[in-house]
Amino acid sequence: MKICKVITLDSVDSTNSYAKRNKIATGTCVRALSQSAGRGRLGRSFLSPGGGLYFSVILNCKQKQLATVAAAVAVASCIDGCAVKWPNDILINGKKACGILCEGNSINDDIIIGVGINIDSSPIEGSCAVGGDAEELFNRILKGFEEIFSLLDHDPNAVLEQYSKMLMTKLVKVKVMVKGEEITGIAMGIDECGRLLVLNGDEEYRVNSGEATIIKE
Ligand code: BTN
Repeated sequence: MKICKVITLDSVDSTNSYAKRNKIATGTCVRALSQSAGRGRLGRSFLSPGGGLYFSVILNCKQKQLATVAAAVAVASCIDGCAVKWPNDILINGKKACGILCEGNSINDDIIIGVGINIDSSPIEGSCAVGGDAEELFNRILKGFEEIFSLLDHDPNAVLEQYSKMLMTKLVKVKVMVKGEEITGIAMGIDECGRLLVLNGDEEYRVNSGEATIIKE
């Protein structure tokens, strides 16, 4: 997978929305220096003031169910001392530094992967900033995307293994929502489709999407 073009905007509502609206081609990255209506997972908003890194990569891959996993690996590999909280939040010392929003495209079967990283400041309480040079980080992450998504096409297990090594939501007690019901159990890692395995007594749950809250005892 090659990222052939980067479109940089001063400001936009959301780079993911811009990519959808303008039917941006596969292999393009849309970056904005700030977003006025940045979107997060689960219908949340993502505060995106100037100084942060906000971009969307439009790509296609065979293993669509693992796109989220691959994106988390590509980004986390470029951030020192971070860990992944299932499915794809990137945390440093337990505080969120980066969020990833993967969405489908209505015009074709491309995937739009939106990445938001706090660089100098952390706009919400409980989050943190990665520091360093945003340009250098951006270039490394784009290269990481090219490498990991190529690897995903021919060796998905290798990507799953890398993800597993970075996963903090493993062998810890978590709370997850399964079909509207709150389940507490031990997170055991992910399966071949990127679902979180949660063990509750004899029962094993495979959680597709949502959020896992770590329970500290
Ligand atoms: C999350 O933390 O829930 C995901 C946040 C994803 C934010 C990025 S910033 C670039 C792209 N455009 C958006 O509107 N959202 C993503």
